[in-house]
Amino acid sequence: MIDERAETRKGVDMKIDLIAKKNWTGRVLVGFMFDGDKTPLAIPGDEGKSLAAVAAGEKFTGQFKKTSLLRGTGDGGRGTGEEGRKLILAGLGKRKEFELDRVRSASAKALKRAEEIGAESVGLLVPDNKEVRGELADFVAAAVEGAILSSYRFDKYRTPKADEAKAVGELTLVFANTKNLSVAMRKAVGEVVARSEAVCFTRDLANEPPSPKPPEKMAEIATGLAKKGRITVEVMHKAELEKLGMGGILRVGAGSHQPPCLVHLTYTPAGKSKQTVVVIGKGVTFDSGGISIKPSAGMEAMKDDMAGAGSVLGLFKWLGSVDVPVTVHGLAPFAENMPGGGAQKPGDVIRHYNGKTAEVISTDAEGRHLLADCLAYGSTLKPDLMIDIATLTGACVVALGDEYSALLGTDKRTIDRLISVGKQQGEFFWELPLPDRYKSHLKSKVADMKHVGKPGIAGTITAGLFLKEFVGEGVPWVHIDIAGPSFTKEGWDYAPAGATGVPLRTIAALLRKGV
Ligand code: BES
Ligand code: ZN
Ligand code: ZN
Repeated sequence: MIDERAETRKGVDMKIDLIAKKNWTGRVLVGFMFDGDKTPLAIPGDEGKSLAAVAAGEKFTGQFKKTSLLRGTGDGGRGTGEEGRKLILAGLGKRKEFELDRVRSASAKALKRAEEIGAESVGLLVPDNKEVRGELADFVAAAVEGAILSSYRFDKYRTPKADEAKAVGELTLVFANTKNLSVAMRKAVGEVVARSEAVCFTRDLANEPPSPKPPEKMAEIATGLAKKGRITVEVMHKAELEKLGMGGILRVGAGSHQPPCLVHLTYTPAGKSKQTVVVIGKGVTFDSGGISIKPSAGMEAMKDDMAGAGSVLGLFKWLGSVDVPVTVHGLAPFAENMPGGGAQKPGDVIRHYNGKTAEVISTDAEGRHLLADCLAYGSTLKPDLMIDIATLTGACVVALGDEYSALLGTDKRTIDRLISVGKQQGEFFWELPLPDRYKSHLKSKVADMKHVGKPGIAGTITAGLFLKEFVGEGVPWVHIDIAGPSFTKEGWDYAPAGATGVPLRTIAALLRKGV
């Protein structure tokens, strides 16, 4: 059985409060500083100047990702004013290089420093409007997001060591200018907390070991999401998939004792829905490669092969608490790719939902069969946009590394939007071409096409060309290959080692405004 945490994460592990500075009684305060400024943000005048001078003595001038710890008079005598209080300054770098994502990273660095000094509760000094570029609420939301996402831990199977730093449990936003403590500010903070919860939920799902999360278990978790907001769910089990002719999902799942299934979640907006979006996510709960079995070294990482579907479920967790102006269909096909007695074999021919057949060359190229069924099925919903998210090809990691996801598709406008929205979110995308000239790589003598191209040649692109065959005529479509960024081995600024939740935040930001 799955431990309950992945399915019952009710909130983030950090308590968030907003308070006027005069009422704040905490001991550890975090402030931000731009490199080149005379004072930290929200600490003007002589007080700010003397603090900056003390920090400069330790070579801190506000450099990006650097922090400085200043102790209160009762604790070292370096003059932060208040007895025993500590101030952590977090560098944002030069003003002219500023982008919002720096706030997330700086906030994460400050929280790490707070953790190291054993702080359980931290105040975060909110700048004034005129001190930052853009909306203050965006700055504050980014700081909160960086704090929450960097404090995420997947500890349910681990006994923490006695001397291990504990994550900060409480974050209080401290407002020097109480005019900024507005309803809109509270709303912005509430929204970012909800979105962070969804990211942590997605990370939990992908970090979960493979055996406790077979397809039917994933469907049960998805079903739980339909209890909130305007969300409904339909789960298509093996018998229904057979009736529908979803050969891709069925054949990939045939090598496992755990039957495959297809989850269809639907969000209907409160107001009149203007557009329909379909979001599909690859949900291979473990990818052993099947009969074309993978080398054993590193195979444990293939528990993450459902990260695309995990993002879809995370999106619906988020949709349970926000209003977006579009109807959203989430399709999450789940299967375990195993080499059991009933498994698909190289040489087999698979017939997909739209009737097109594919010759199997490697049973390790399984994800595209799940997506093929769903792209064809999703097209029948006549969407204005169809996106699929998948840990699809190792070739993508070779091409773009572990921080960039590949975008391929027919909807150039959405591809451009994903790149620019992603940059603001600190999630990175790059477009790869989808040229008809490479379609010849998929020619088969026994079926409508082969499901893979030539070994070692344009593996991400030919996977995209295969998928394109299943997208209905005139349906704007984007494929996102997250094989690299779905997982980080060493950890990033505000994503600890493990599942990252990419690209949930970018898709959420996109849907928020309508497509
Ligand atoms: N799940 C893998 C892709 C993958 C690789 C994801 C590395 C994350 C990190 C996928 O199912 C796969 O095995 N693809 C094959 C395709 C090949 C057989 C054409 C690959 O990329 O090697
Ligand atoms: Zn595979
Ligand atoms: Zn796979």
